[in-house]
Amino acid sequence: MNYHVLTLFPEMVLSGLRTSIIGRAEEKGLLSIEAINIRDYSTNKHMKVDDYPYGGGAGMVMQAEPVYGAYQALTDKLGKRPRLIYLTPQGRTFDQQMARELAEEEDLVFLCGHYEGIDERVLEMTVTDYVSLGDYVLTGGELPAMVMIDCISRLVPGVLNNDVSAEFESFHDNLLEYPQYTRPEEFMGRKVPEVLLSGHHGNIEKWRRQQSLLRTRNARPDLLEKAELTEEEWKWLEK
Ligand code: ADE
Repeated sequence: MNYHVLTLFPEMVLSGLRTSIIGRAEEKGLLSIEAINIRDYSTNKHMKVDDYPYGGGAGMVMQAEPVYGAYQALTDKLGKRPRLIYLTPQGRTFDQQMARELAEEEDLVFLCGHYEGIDERVLEMTVTDYVSLGDYVLTGGELPAMVMIDCISRLVPGVLNNDVSAEFESFHDNLLEYPQYTRPEEFMGRKVPEVLLSGHHGNIEKWRRQQSLLRTRNARPDLLEKAELTEEEWKWLEK
C-alpha cells in the first residue's frame, strides 16, 4: 500500500504516522507514506496558496492551481490516477467497511483542505471519493487522513503481528469488542471474571459473545440492526 498525502502540513502527517506500528510497517516495506507539500506548487511569487472567496464571506479558499499542480506532478510520476480521497464533512462517513474496501488498493491519494475549503473546480477534476470522519468540523483534513491511514494500514497483511486480531475485533460482525484482562488476577480488589480463568474454551467464547452483545446494545444499539444474531442471542438481550 502506498499513501500519497497532498497537504500544506507535511510534517504533521509524517511525524504523526511514522511512529509505532505504522512506522514499523513502513520500515518493513509493507507500506509507504509520502507527504507532498501543496505550497511547493504555488506559482505565486509569495508562495501563496489561498485567496478570498468569490461572492464574499468569511475565511480564505485554497486555490485550484497549486492543488492541481501537486496532483499532476504525482500522477505523472506514478503513471496512473489512483483513487483520490478528499476529507470533508460533506463526504460519506468513514467506517470499517470502507476501510476494508480501500485496503485493497495499491495506491491511495489523500487531499487535505484547510481554511474554508478548496476551489470546487479542482475537486471536480481530481476527487474520486468524498469522505467525512463524522458530524463535526475540524480545522483541516490532516487528522482525518491520518486516522484513515492508521485504520486502513492495520488491515494490510503483515502490519499487525497476528492477523487474527484484525478479524476478531470491534465491527468485524457489526458488534463491539468484549472486555479484555491480563495479569494480575486481582487489581485493587477487582477480580478477573472467573470464566476467563476456567480454561473452558466453550464457556469463554459464550461469555465473550454475551459481553459483545450487551456492550453493543448499551452503547451502540443502532449496530444491532446490521448484526446477525441467533434467537438465543436475542433472548440474552431481553434480560
Ligand atoms: N475536515 C474538516 N472536518 C472534517 C471531518 N469531520 N471529516 C473529514 N474531513 C474534515
